[in-house]
Amino acid sequence: YGDYNQKIDYVFKVVLIGDSAVGKSQLLARFARNEFSVDSKATIGVEFQTKTLSIDHKTVKAQIWDTAGQERYRAVTSAYYRGAVGAMLVFDMTKRQSFDHMARWLEELRGHADKNIVVMLIGNKCDLRSLRAVPTEDAQEFAQKENVFFMETSALESTNVETAFFTVLTEIY
Ligand code: GTP
Ligand code: MG
Repeated sequence: YGDYNQKIDYVFKVVLIGDSAVGKSQLLARFARNEFSVDSKATIGVEFQTKTLSIDHKTVKAQIWDTAGQERYRAVTSAYYRGAVGAMLVFDMTKRQSFDHMARWLEELRGHADKNIVVMLIGNKCDLRSLRAVPTEDAQEFAQKENVFFMETSALESTNVETAFFTVLTEIY
């Protein structure tokens, strides 16, 4: 009921991409509902959730899209990116390979999305400190080279999740 009669000034579509199991769905669950699940199931097809927030006295409805990292479960690529004004490029900082694949995900994104799309590189699972496999500097360097934002997050501990989404949405606005 809360925002039923609320006047929406903007609707911003933001897409989540990255390898399977990096935590895309849990970042979304944390942001949209402040929830986290340890036994999160792999996403099949596409899901999305919305969250309405206020930016600069305007009411912004963030529509966050989430798809499968696994190739065989992925949705039609062009439809997924259509109309997106923001993207979260997520890797698992305890899995080097998921970071090494970021270049490919970015290439796919740039091939399908609007050229002005706001992109945030996210190193998720920063709560697993002792298992870190990607130094912050490596990710920073990549982000700088590709001209995208960068943040380390934990969907589990709720670290930087709001900040990451908020930064992208504010930049879009
Ligand atoms: P696909 O849907 O297959 O593409 O995977 P996904 O990227 O959506 O991953 P998902 O969110 O389902 O999370 C995968 C696993 O990582 C689950 O067991 C989550 O509980 C766990 N996980 C997600 N985020 C974090 C985090 O910040 N810290 C820790 N420790 N575990 C996390
Ligand atoms: Mg998922």
